[in-house]
Amino acid sequence: MDRAGRMFISALLFLCLMSVVNATLLEPSPTSLSGPQCVNWGVYERGAVKVYESEAGRIHCPLFLHPKLYNYAQIQNTGHTLLWYRQTHELEEPVDLSLAKFAKHRDALWIQPTSMEDRGEYICLLRNMSWCVKIGVKLDVVPRKWECDDTLHRNVTVQLHSNYTLRCPNVQHLPNKTYNVIWYHNCESDKFDGYFWEVRKYELIIYQMFTFYAGPYTCVVTYQSNGHTLNYRHTISLKAMSNIGFKYPVFLNPTHDQNFTVTVGEDTKFVCQLFLPYLNDEEPQIWWSINNKTLEELSEPRYTSPEASVPADDNGDREMHRVLYVSPFKEEDLHKEFRCSVRYGKGFYSKIVTLEEKVYVPSIELGFGLGLTLALALLLFVLYRVFWLEVHLLYRSWFGTDERDTDDKEYDVYISYARNTEEEEFVLATLRRVLEAEFGYTVCIFDRDSLPGGTVTEETLQFVSRSRRLLVILSACSAFRDAQALLEVRAGVSAMLHGGSMKLVLIQLKESRATRNKSHKPDTHQCVKELRRARIASALIQWEGEKSSSLTSHFWKKLQLQLPVRTPTHATKPAQVTSYTDEKQKSESAMLMLESIHMPDTHLYKATYKHIS
Ligand SMILES: *[C@@H]1O[C@H](CO)[C@@H](O)[C@H](O)[C@H]1NC(C)=O
Ligand SMILES: *[C@@H]1O[C@H](CO)[C@@H](O)[C@H](O)[C@H]1NC(C)=O
Ligand SMILES: *[C@@H]1O[C@H](CO)[C@@H](O)[C@H](O)[C@H]1NC(C)=O
Ligand SMILES: *[C@@H]1O[C@H](CO)[C@@H](O)[C@H](O)[C@H]1NC(C)=O
Ligand SMILES: *[C@@H]1O[C@H](CO)[C@@H](O)[C@H](O)[C@H]1NC(C)=O
Ligand SMILES: *[C@@H]1O[C@H](CO)[C@@H](O)[C@H](O)[C@H]1NC(C)=O
Repeated sequence: MDRAGRMFISALLFLCLMSVVNATLLEPSPTSLSGPQCVNWGVYERGAVKVYESEAGRIHCPLFLHPKLYNYAQIQNTGHTLLWYRQTHELEEPVDLSLAKFAKHRDALWIQPTSMEDRGEYICLLRNMSWCVKIGVKLDVVPRKWECDDTLHRNVTVQLHSNYTLRCPNVQHLPNKTYNVIWYHNCESDKFDGYFWEVRKYELIIYQMFTFYAGPYTCVVTYQSNGHTLNYRHTISLKAMSNIGFKYPVFLNPTHDQNFTVTVGEDTKFVCQLFLPYLNDEEPQIWWSINNKTLEELSEPRYTSPEASVPADDNGDREMHRVLYVSPFKEEDLHKEFRCSVRYGKGFYSKIVTLEEKVYVPSIELGFGLGLTLALALLLFVLYRVFWLEVHLLYRSWFGTDERDTDDKEYDVYISYARNTEEEEFVLATLRRVLEAEFGYTVCIFDRDSLPGGTVTEETLQFVSRSRRLLVILSACSAFRDAQALLEVRAGVSAMLHGGSMKLVLIQLKESRATRNKSHKPDTHQCVKELRRARIASALIQWEGEKSSSLTSHFWKKLQLQLPVRTPTHATKPAQVTSYTDEKQKSESAMLMLESIHMPDTHLYKATYKHIS
């Protein structure tokens, strides 16, 4: 029992001793860091460090960024200690400074060199006996793919013609005062002539900026520490920017004299467009507000304005726009103030849009209808110009009256022509056949229809007065040289002047080679003109030989137009009536003839017969 009792007591003593040792050992351990007196400033995002793999990296404690708050030189003399920890799995472990690769140098921790496992959050902690503060910094390690890799870089814009000094970072903080810096531009060194650009220690001075000085600049720093040779590099990408005089934004839209047309009930889009000359590398902000309230404050789904970011051009300038959609635009919006604002550098600029209400006009429908009407009218006009003959014939066939219903005449057409000429051939071979066989007219030709033995004058007068139309065939006025033809024309004119229902139609044969004679030509022209001017002939139709021979040619259509209308449903009149009127007309005709001989004072007569006599 004594032995067992002694063992128990010694074990108890051992445990007591161990707990005391443990307590003294644990006193400065991380657990006590998170005591209530340690102020935690979280992670300082902007101080994040990025290093290429197997190059030296420096993590600066952000607490000393503001020397007025914490000054490294001062805290040394006031009993403060700077400690480095690493955040691993919710735990803060002290950085093992006994390892060669970690070196605490003044207010920074050097990792020489870095490896991928070193990535993570580092904590720098400043404390004295009664007070403590800490802040975190992130370290990222990036593999370097090739010699001139510039994945890690900083963009800097430099005004043309100004000077600029590039500084290789951290060189003045190196653990060893002996170092070497080499500068590269576009991956080439040894190009800095000392005249336009010059290397001084760890700085590269560009005396005058030109566009060809733009591009990536890389400094490579080499130094020794604890017998190891280390290096790191840093890239600054330079851009040249035009040195335009002004430094304020220009509103391209809305301009001062421009109105936004809006229609109540329709979706509306307001575009705010700005030209922003280069100022600094800050992203400008543009937004819309309605009655001085931002869209976030209003939170009305009718108003939307998606954010848009536009990269700067080579000069650092940018043209940005921001659209405000109002869907739909309501009556109440007409009295609201729509304002586009921009924060640019330290300045603030804004513009109000002027609304102009547009009353809804169905302009498209109206325009379309009008256009269609015009097009239709034009089409009809063109059709009429091309097919006027056909249109007239069609009209006549529908609405024309058959003259057989209103008069007692026997013949439709009386053909007058000069005998033993070209015209005779045309009349007998072509005209008569077509009129009788094709069109179904009753044709009177004196030589065929007159009875042998009668008086020519009397019979001619009778035949002409019993015809509805007198067709006079002309070529070189030859008709008026033939005695019979002259008589026929005279009878026709007389019947026309006194009866009214007679119409005289001239058919002119195009001069054939045989009759083409200089002395005749003006003559024909003249007499035809005279007849036309005196309005005795209702029409002059030209026979153009071959061209007119087809029944569908203009010649036949024009001729048909001058001849009486033929309606198919016409009932022929009893022959008795004709014979009765024959007698009556005979005496009438004789009278007419006499009249025309005794009273030739009408000026129409004069005009017509001037050339004949
Ligand atoms: C610890 O530091 C704080 C702030 O720097 C200071 O106010 C305090 O007096 C210091 N305490 C001791 C014991 O030195
Ligand atoms: C630098 O500018 C280039 C384009 O000119 C862009 O692609 C790149 O992301 C910029 N770098 C940084 C760090 O902003
Ligand atoms: C750079 O320009 C500024 C003013 O533009 C001038 O004060 C300075 O001396 C110039 N620096 C060099 C190195 O030429
Ligand atoms: C500093 O660098 C020099 C040579 O460049 C070397 O001799 C010296 O040992 C280095 N100092 C330390 C502390 O590593
Ligand atoms: C918005 O604010 C500006 C200046 O602060 C003022 O002039 C304007 O009258 C305000 N507009 C409205 C609709 O309140
Ligand atoms: C803009 O609208 C106002 C009325 O709202 C009108 O007086 C002015 O003439 C318009 N200006 C233009 C350029 O249309």
